[in-house]
Amino acid sequence: MYRFRTLKFARAWQICEPSAKCTLLQDAKCTAKQIHLMLRKIIRASQIRISRFKVIGLTCLLVLSHPSMADSLSQAKRMHDRLAGVPGSQSTLEEMATLIDAGDPNAAAYIAMENPNFYNVTLKNWVTPWTNEEADIFAPLNDYTATVIGMARDNVDFRLVLSGDILYTAQGVSGIPAYSTSNNAHYETLENNGVDLSTALVRSTQSAITGLPSDATAGIMTTRGAAKSFFKDGTNRAMLRFTLMNHLCTDLEALKDTSLPPDRIRQDLSRSPGGDSRIFANSCTGCHNGMDPLAQAFAYYEYEYNVEADPEGENGQITYNSAGELDPQTNSRVTAKHRINANNFPFGFIIEDDRWDNYWREGINQTLGWSEQLSGFGYGAKSMGEELANSEKFASCQVSKVFENVCLRSPQDADDRSAISAITSAFKSDGYNIKTAFAQSASYCAGE
Ligand code: HEC
Repeated sequence: MYRFRTLKFARAWQICEPSAKCTLLQDAKCTAKQIHLMLRKIIRASQIRISRFKVIGLTCLLVLSHPSMADSLSQAKRMHDRLAGVPGSQSTLEEMATLIDAGDPNAAAYIAMENPNFYNVTLKNWVTPWTNEEADIFAPLNDYTATVIGMARDNVDFRLVLSGDILYTAQGVSGIPAYSTSNNAHYETLENNGVDLSTALVRSTQSAITGLPSDATAGIMTTRGAAKSFFKDGTNRAMLRFTLMNHLCTDLEALKDTSLPPDRIRQDLSRSPGGDSRIFANSCTGCHNGMDPLAQAFAYYEYEYNVEADPEGENGQITYNSAGELDPQTNSRVTAKHRINANNFPFGFIIEDDRWDNYWREGINQTLGWSEQLSGFGYGAKSMGEELANSEKFASCQVSKVFENVCLRSPQDADDRSAISAITSAFKSDGYNIKTAFAQSASYCAGE
């Protein structure tokens, strides 16, 4: 035990270590600052924490606590390990501990986030599972991952992740192939060469680099990386499903609501699967009535690749039919995949344009917290991305993902839930700065 005792004469103090080595703390004037400085050194070394320090009249009153709670230095260490993925240097940890002692753990977290590994390791691993259907954390860096990393570094409003004309590429690094719309070599080489993403990434726009019209860009949804995973084959519904899973933290199963009108469900859905129309009414509609009218936002997109020579689509690219560009099969801007299997139910909905509607503003999925500032319908992926990103669920989902990443566990009890909601409020009022969520989450569980 460490002992702390008052000596007989006023304004003198002793702190004794287990070895019985005592240190006299005395100061004629007893200024808080001086004693604080003296104590800091001792307290640090002895795992005792100053919980309060006061000068009252002529007497110095020091209230010390010796809680089981981790001391500031080990909190700093834990925060650094989790945010940067690597141990901090002694001087960095001391700087952080000083801030923690001063009651500003968020500032300490910001110091840890200056470490390049926060970008190259922590954020890379945080984002990578969102970029592919298998949620594979080992997938290579790509334009989706790099764009989220860059947005985090530059404190960009995180809602733009689903709507912005934004793209991060590396500039000024030698030996790196230029960005290509038809391969991932730029990013894979960056990763293989261990290039420091915290300095190499430069903000640009998709319209300038990939040639998509600016109004056809929708944050990461229109990156090559996302297109390769979620616009390749299928019916583009996968882009909506994985965006919901990764950015609203919900799969469609949880959103099933058979009470909504089925009028926008496409022709490719049989209305009597297996010869039983009840299955359609009780199951299929539950997802497709809300999903199909939202996913219509992607009507003009495709991921084109050579099916024979390149079945994985490694050299494919995202395409978009601008006004006047007609798909030869639909004779409209709508890509052919949106009209496939029309014979399954010829009276089903035929997609003519990229108008989306959010049916989930009615029924049970109102609980996702849609923005009252938005109308709930529009044309194209950009406004649909805004609809999703302005929901309450988007904000709390980002914070939950950060919490799990830095606390190494999911939120469990009432305390955790109220922490998530407080951090979500801070994240929003701080302009959706994702670093705020990292800093506050790391502070919250630094003592665990
Ligand atoms: C839990 C939600 C859910 C339910 C219930 C559901 N679907 Fe789907 N359906 C999806 C999603 C998500 C996709 C997009 C799949 C993808 O590409 O990843 C999809 C795609 C489809 C497709 C297009 C296939 C393709 O390659 O994209 C058809 C056809 C379809 N569903 C039919 C049905 C039928 C018939 C039922 C009822 C028996 C049904 N679905 C029930 C979520 C659902």
